[in-house]
Amino acid sequence: MTERMKVLHLSDLHLTDDGADMFGANPATRLQQAIQVIVREHADAAFCLLTGDLADRGGVAAYAWLQQQLQRLPMPCYLLPGNHDDRANLRAVFTQTPVDAHGYLQQRVSTPLGSFLLLDTLQYGVAHGEYGADRLEWLQRTLATLDADEPLWLVMHHPPLQVGIPSMDQYALRNAEPLACVLEPYRPRIRHLLVGHVHRAIGGSWRGWPFSCVRSPNHQVALDLHTRGTDVPGSHEAPGFGVILADGRDVVVHHQDFLVTGAPFWI
Ligand SMILES: [Fe+2]
Repeated sequence: MTERMKVLHLSDLHLTDDGADMFGANPATRLQQAIQVIVREHADAAFCLLTGDLADRGGVAAYAWLQQQLQRLPMPCYLLPGNHDDRANLRAVFTQTPVDAHGYLQQRVSTPLGSFLLLDTLQYGVAHGEYGADRLEWLQRTLATLDADEPLWLVMHHPPLQVGIPSMDQYALRNAEPLACVLEPYRPRIRHLLVGHVHRAIGGSWRGWPFSCVRSPNHQVALDLHTRGTDVPGSHEAPGFGVILADGRDVVVHHQDFLVTGAPFWI
């Protein structure tokens, strides 16, 4: 059986081009703090996934700074765009990022845990996610090329389900039905779905497939299950990122806090 491996999941960095604060916190400083913890505690991770909203306004300067910072990590990083990102600017800096026949930044990352399929849900001009026929084409073709027993992991910015926070649910992936239909024949092989966008630690399942969402290193979405409208209630809950432990059988998702105050103690 596959040995237990560690995978890191960061999302929603929202780096600003000029290094400015956002909602009273500094995205650049927060990322540096997260990286310090990764280097100290999680240098043994096999790879790191970054699920979008990397640059708050999709600017080249933010991507260039991010690339510089990621060079401090000992493991490879794989990136996806979110609704705040710009594909061309992202690729101008991260030149190795694969692009599919329709220009979407989708890729398969082959690992001892199986194939991680990074799906591009960014739709320019709107905050919600889309995954239409042109993107599905890549997914269908990729799935068809894989061995029949290859485990599958799905990685995307927008969650394909309603999480119950109305202000964010309006910006989730729209029309997830075609995606679910394409995935259905592969049901037993789909191990986990990793998403961002909601800036919260959330776990559950989508149509029976387990998923997890991670906090932003910078600012969080409040657990407000009532407020409707275009504005999203924010919160200064602790920032964090995901630490996944998985082998050929089990998957565990930890949420790493990195601004814990007070000295550690023995229980
Ligand atoms: Fe975000």
